[in-house]
Amino acid sequence: MGPPPSDDHLNLKSAPHPRVLQPTPEAIAEAAARLRAGDLVAFPTETVYGLGGDAANPAAVRRIFEAKGRPADHPVIVHLPDSSQLAHWARDVPVGATALARAFWPGPLTLILPRAEHVLGIVTGGQESVGLRVPAHPVARALLAAFARLGGCGIAAPSANRFGHVSPTTAAHVAEDLGAAVDVILDGGASEVGIESTIVSFASDAPMLLRPGGIGVEAIARVLGFPPRAADGSAPRASGTLASHYAPHTRTLLVPADALHAMLAQHETREERIGVLARTVGEPEGFDGAWVAAPRDPAGYAHALYAALRALEASNADVIVVEAVPETLDWLAIRDRLARATHGEDDDRD
Ligand code: TXA
Ligand code: MG
Repeated sequence: MGPPPSDDHLNLKSAPHPRVLQPTPEAIAEAAARLRAGDLVAFPTETVYGLGGDAANPAAVRRIFEAKGRPADHPVIVHLPDSSQLAHWARDVPVGATALARAFWPGPLTLILPRAEHVLGIVTGGQESVGLRVPAHPVARALLAAFARLGGCGIAAPSANRFGHVSPTTAAHVAEDLGAAVDVILDGGASEVGIESTIVSFASDAPMLLRPGGIGVEAIARVLGFPPRAADGSAPRASGTLASHYAPHTRTLLVPADALHAMLAQHETREERIGVLARTVGEPEGFDGAWVAAPRDPAGYAHALYAALRALEASNADVIVVEAVPETLDWLAIRDRLARATHGEDDDRD
């Protein structure tokens, strides 16, 4: 099938949707122009891929929700080229937020701040706050700069997965999840961090950790001078805080290392096909399921996690068994994602 007529002037080689483009200057210019025109562009960030739309265009943001199958009352993060744009989006920037922005932007940190008057309700999920992030990935930065040159002010972008599924860390993951619902995917290779940004809210009195992520909570505490409060019932709504989220389609169980081999034997007697995400435990002799050995360090593990879960899902396993990770603070964000990937599942489920 040839390209749709409206693409002719862009001189594209082939155009079955979605079009996955290498991030050449021309492709980035095209992607920015498409965003300005209200189209959706998926782009790499250092955390995970984002599904971008013009944050000032309500129709574009609505399309993001449709493409993801996400409830319309969930807020989306606005991505900015640099922190000089903060005042455009936030009514008030507390000193703690300024300090975190200085320390960690560009990078895997999202700040929730009181929103400026003009920010669209569909971006904030009808709340009084807005989520803002300056990503570090060079392709994201180039896209944001090109978009700004065309008069754009910020790119609204949730993770580029179907709602509730594992976030994408490659262009291929985005194409698998969203298909023709996204107009263009910029391919920037595998996301380095591999899990989503840390979210700190300044929407109420004291800074609150809404989601652990790419920046460690200890590093946040060092800059603030005190640890952020843990999220509680007063926290603003965040789909990343839903108990079951970031989950593979396949039933997924979290198992302590010392119980893993026994658990495999149990499933094998039931003739279930098993996928394993191991870290320290070795593959048993004669194991005939899918086995992924994850890196032992938290940064390496985070980088590999979502691709591993997707690969195990694609192995047609009946059940995915994940070796539990350490209880230390440097594994906090990973424990959070694993708990969500396995929530509500127990080994007795039919
Ligand atoms: O690393 C990331 O943060 C990636 C990349 C693409 O930037 N984005 C991402 O977006 O993970 P998303 O939408 O999948 O998750 C962002 C979370 C959601 O749980 C959303 O509800 C929350 O941030 N959020 C956004 N704006 C908010 C707000 N104003 N108040 C509370 N939570 C907010
Ligand atoms: Mg997400």
